[in-house]
Amino acid sequence: MAHANEEAQQAQSTFHHISVLPTELINGLAIKPGGQYLDVTLGGGGHTQLLLEAAEGTEVWGIDQDEVAIAAVQSRLSHYMETNRLHLIHNNFDEFHPGEQKFDGIIADLGVSSVQFDVAERGFSFRSEAPLDMRMNQQQSLTAAEIVNTWEDKELADLIYELGEERRSRRIARKIIENRPIETTTQLAYVVAGCFPPKQRHGRIHTATRTFQALRIAVNRELEVLDRLLEVAPDWLKPEGRIGIISFHSLEDRRVKHAFKPDERLRVITKRPLTASETELEVNPRSRSAKLRIAERRDRSSNE
Ligand SMILES: C[S@@+](CC[C@H](N)C(=O)[O-])C[C@H]1O[C@@H](n2cnc3c(N)ncnc32)[C@H](O)[C@@H]1O
Repeated sequence: MAHANEEAQQAQSTFHHISVLPTELINGLAIKPGGQYLDVTLGGGGHTQLLLEAAEGTEVWGIDQDEVAIAAVQSRLSHYMETNRLHLIHNNFDEFHPGEQKFDGIIADLGVSSVQFDVAERGFSFRSEAPLDMRMNQQQSLTAAEIVNTWEDKELADLIYELGEERRSRRIARKIIENRPIETTTQLAYVVAGCFPPKQRHGRIHTATRTFQALRIAVNRELEVLDRLLEVAPDWLKPEGRIGIISFHSLEDRRVKHAFKPDERLRVITKRPLTASETELEVNPRSRSAKLRIAERRDRSSNE
């Protein structure tokens, strides 16, 4: 138990994530006093805290599959838990079933938190040497190392092409296979860099960015779980309840856009996605690629 407490304290003191599009999300959700909200990507609890502070008596259910995120929020926002306004759920949102409960708003802020990215041992970043892990949920068995070291050439090339939108995918897959076993993030980044002509190795985007993105999406089944969320979450909303999804790359944003528009249960609120203001970009460069789309559950009696 002492061990768990130490872990929670450590998690709290080291968990630093700046929430993106805070004003846009809270205003866009039109938060109601006493309303019930679901945050399916709790992370550092930044958006959840805003939901709790936006109107009197709001109640939030926060889900995260990362035990470090849950522990950090548990200790940082404990006062809201004591007053029964915050309920934490350690799980993949893909496995969440609210039963009869309906929400006034649902939010998802997709992808990894700054903490997952910045803690080298989580293996998400090629900026420091660490085992090739990339699991948001530390209890799952599939890691990036397993994909890199066991998948067949074609499977690997398709993955890097489709989930990384990387045109050099075949060459990268071939080089990965030639250099097996690849155990660490920096080893992989080095192999990928070798697939690019020297003058492209020092561009604005690191040559390994797309390959790492592809692996991360595959390890965490990010697109599959997003598709399911888009299918089921509108049924979890009360009439006129709103859903807001923040995505960070085109593969996600396209899915959100194409799911919201034809969905007869929903009315799209944001014709174009909301993006970060210049002021936000100055303080949080990570917000550069964030896109927020919001939709509202139609009232059953509405003929709109
Ligand atoms: C970008 S962060 C969220 C940050 C949060 N909105 C804040 O303001 O602090 C994304 C979080 O969602 C979690 N996550 C991503 N996909 C998930 C899933 N399918 N199920 C549960 N948690 C997930 C990650 O573990 C990560 O902690």
